Amino acid sequence: MVKAAQERLKLSIMSYQQQPVGTVASKEPAPKEEQLNYGHCFVRDFIPSGLAFLMQGERAIVRNFLEFTLGLQSDKLQTKDGEGLFAQVRKTWQGKELLIDGIRLGEGLMPASFEVTSSQNIEPDFGQRAIGRVTPVDSGLWWIILLRAYEKACQIANRPDESIVHRLEFQRGIQLILDICLSQRFDMTPTLLVPEAAFMIDRRMAVYGHPLEIQALFHQALYAARYELLQNESYIHKREIDTRLELLTNYIRERYWLDPKRLRAIYRYQTEEFGETALNKFNIYEMSVPDWVLPWLDRKGGYLAGNLGVGWIDFRFFTQGNLLAIISGLATPEQSQSIMNLIEIQWSKLIGNMPMKLCYPAVVGRDWETVTGCDPKNIPWSYHNGGSWPVLLWSLTAAAIKTQRVELAKKAIETAEEYLLDDEWPEYYDGEMGETIGREARLYQTWTIAGYLVANYLIQNPEHLNLMCFNDNPQAIMD
Ligand code: GLC
Repeated sequence: MVKAAQERLKLSIMSYQQQPVGTVASKEPAPKEEQLNYGHCFVRDFIPSGLAFLMQGERAIVRNFLEFTLGLQSDKLQTKDGEGLFAQVRKTWQGKELLIDGIRLGEGLMPASFEVTSSQNIEPDFGQRAIGRVTPVDSGLWWIILLRAYEKACQIANRPDESIVHRLEFQRGIQLILDICLSQRFDMTPTLLVPEAAFMIDRRMAVYGHPLEIQALFHQALYAARYELLQNESYIHKREIDTRLELLTNYIRERYWLDPKRLRAIYRYQTEEFGETALNKFNIYEMSVPDWVLPWLDRKGGYLAGNLGVGWIDFRFFTQGNLLAIISGLATPEQSQSIMNLIEIQWSKLIGNMPMKLCYPAVVGRDWETVTGCDPKNIPWSYHNGGSWPVLLWSLTAAAIKTQRVELAKKAIETAEEYLLDDEWPEYYDGEMGETIGREARLYQTWTIAGYLVANYLIQNPEHLNLMCFNDNPQAIMD
């Protein structure tokens, strides 16, 4: 099955002027009008592909992808100074679409996806064409993370000559992304404030504000940038990053954490507290705790809430955010163990027939109407609303290795192996147990294939985890 996946991954490669630069989202031979944008290379979808390539020792496509997408970054100056693919892309694309409805794109933004329509034509999508006009906040964060993984892979292979991070165009690109994240806005928390649907969940799902997945990516990207920025080239001081990292980490660990003990504290919260010493800072009412939570949480389990805001804890369990928090070290070692305990205890609900639920539980009834805007693609237990996404196998495996719970990952991989190949690598599954191929799922979805490969490579060689763990040597951070 690994062989079949490797071949499929190869088939998904997208080229520009004869050089591999990415992978298309899906290779399903659908009629053109039904393809929508699945023929694009998505930045977030390329992450498992990129990791799989790095683990196979193929660094060139990852380097090309990083250069190519850097060339597409929104940049007022449209700097053309630089090398290789970066310079070629800047010449070809020339930032034609930098204005959306007359408004200039935020400087530093990376596209959600791009397509190459001819050797002279590249079409990036920053959300101006995407369904729902959603903003891809995660792209820049993932880009910084993949760059760090690439640099680590060069170190491991003892090929310092292949390093790219020191190049001026890369230093500028990193700083523009950090700028847009660290700039001051109308917000008073160390978390990153984003609009609705700014990441993998790119449809209305009440994931605006401070969703966990974005915070975990932000944390991981800050760590990566901490290593990537060259002091003499950078106007963003590393101390600024360190301060934000510390504040962000403490904030998430304390305020997003949910376990039986913390739930009891919420039940006893005082409300309507005025003043700086208020304990219940966001004025959360005990009545807002949904009925399913307490019975669902075993004493040994816990997880990070999906979101936090005024009068609002989103109690849904968002898988990718929780797993990334383990991988990046945003969750403490004890919290990480509790999250893995919960996955083990709630196996039938979270893993079921196909690893793994994107979020739990689904919103239903009137909640579904208000939360999704009556979205038929996100009906209960489908797609983003409680559907099961095999791509999550890679982050589950990485988190399991990090917490020394490898047996959980192995069991999940075996479950996936029962169906994935026969079912032709679907994008997602529907049903409370993930029992049927998603109603509108693409087949031959590249990140399903790549996620499966990464999970396998990690089991074969757990040292690959180093490619995505950046805070394993805290001392180095302080240097
Ligand atoms: C859907 C997913 C998104 C993914 C894209 C391409 O829009 O919600 O996360 O990047 O498909 O696979």
